[in-house]
Amino acid sequence: MSQCTKCPLRAGCQRVVFGSGNPEAKIIFIGEAPGKKEDELGIPFVGSTGRILDKMLAEIAIKRGDVYLTNICKCRPPENRDPLPTEIQTCSTWLEKQIQIINPEIIVTLGRYALNYFLPQAKISQVHGDISEINIEKIGKMKFFPLHHPAAARINRQTRALFTQDFQKIPTILKQIKKEQ
Ligand code: URA
Repeated sequence: MSQCTKCPLRAGCQRVVFGSGNPEAKIIFIGEAPGKKEDELGIPFVGSTGRILDKMLAEIAIKRGDVYLTNICKCRPPENRDPLPTEIQTCSTWLEKQIQIINPEIIVTLGRYALNYFLPQAKISQVHGDISEINIEKIGKMKFFPLHHPAAARINRQTRALFTQDFQKIPTILKQIKKEQ
């Protein structure tokens, strides 16, 4: 992945931010794209947005090292602009491989870009916090739990409340999945 030149983003960033965490995690969190700090360190969710995620994980007693964190796009877009549809599409082969290798029990998307990668028509305001099962091409059926993006939760009090409320459903969802197994 670090050698990837399939889209122009690699030429404008310092590092490919592959992903971090447990490769056998039950949960994969998928964000949008690395920011400045992530690009500097090569690790996802290490800037101010990442601190919110860390806090949420701590509140539900899950360690960062027990989950897997990655993004739809592995390279930082210039000036943190939104990733383009072609960049998302080009980078998706890496995400697909990560999901196949990790084979998590649940995919948690953070924000609308990650949500709309899997469900192009879905509106985050309508589906956040709802657990469903989706069929992913070449992968199969997976449990799916879309959340707001922690960066949105950082700047908007109402979104923060929804994000917190939804995040706290995760332990119950994991228990439910275990029961079903
Ligand atoms: N925002 C994201 O979506 N991903 C990161 O890794 C950091 C901030």
